[in-house]
Amino acid sequence: MKKALFAITLLAGFSIAHAADDGQSREDVAKRIKPVGQVHIGSGKPAVPAGPRSGEDVFKASCIACHGSGAMGAPKPGDSAEWEKRLGKGFDTVLQNAITGFNGMPARGTCANCSDDELKAAVEFLVK
Ligand code: HEC
Repeated sequence: MKKALFAITLLAGFSIAHAADDGQSREDVAKRIKPVGQVHIGSGKPAVPAGPRSGEDVFKASCIACHGSGAMGAPKPGDSAEWEKRLGKGFDTVLQNAITGFNGMPARGTCANCSDDELKAAVEFLVK
């Protein structure tokens, strides 16, 4: 029990230290992290993020800003004529360009915490 409390205190301290950066009040943070602490005690398992995001989730979170409207010439999802041209380079090249960046296309489409697999799913969503 002591160990669990220690872990929670550490977790809380860490979150509060970070929250100070984005101007959240300590109460807000305490409220927000409380359920996490309870999960830790209850299940004995660490809280794991819910699996990889789907291509559509990644698209909606990170890519839609440009690819939704076609801003700066970003090809829209399902624009088959446009994607067919690009896929002429091979899917792997197109994916690699999405990962490393390509002209107006920023590296990882601004999703810095997306895994390569999540980016692949997002590209598959765009081209289909
Ligand atoms: C800041 C705007 C912006 C965001 C955000 C963005 N893109 Fe792009 N993307 C572009 C533009 C502009 C192009 C066209 C670049 C060109 O052909 O010169 C492009 C092109 C692409 C291409 C084609 C690459 C090729 O080889 O032809 C892929 C694939 C792609 N984006 C995937 C994504 C994915 C996946 C995301 C989200 C994780 C994303 N983009 C987010 C602007 C953006």
